[in-house]
Amino acid sequence: RLEKYWLIFGVSMLIVFLSVVGVGAFSLGMEPPGGHRHTVDPSRLAETPPFDKPGLKQVGEKEYEANLIAFAFGFTPDKLEIPLGAKVHFSVTSQDVVHGMQVNGTTINMMVIPGEVNHMTYTFDKPGEYLVLCNEYCGAAHEVMMMKIIVK
Ligand code: CUA
Repeated sequence: RLEKYWLIFGVSMLIVFLSVVGVGAFSLGMEPPGGHRHTVDPSRLAETPPFDKPGLKQVGEKEYEANLIAFAFGFTPDKLEIPLGAKVHFSVTSQDVVHGMQVNGTTINMMVIPGEVNHMTYTFDKPGEYLVLCNEYCGAAHEVMMMKIIVK
């Protein structure tokens, strides 16, 4: 019957989901960023690469990693200077509560969740100052939680 197939489908999806979470936890800190989320211990970010050295890291000609930590109420680091035309792979996590990261003037908009690393890649083709805002309510100073990206 149809119901039976849906049940099998549901259970299969659950198994796939749990495997992905399990594999993510297993490869903690050992995998390069690549368009997927993996888990991280929010209380041990200072010892967990790449968050032990937050900031911009060159990984190729015109290619960078940006490793950022969100906290109530800001980002570490609070400023990034990116060369014009650079392709940047963002890895972002939170050390406390759920935050958001939205880079005005770009398509970057993601949830930042404690215990998870979220990834996005963006190429900065336009020079200027980009304001980075938190777009998830995270407490009393949510409105002033921001950082800056300078592209030149
Ligand atoms: Cu962080 Cu709102």
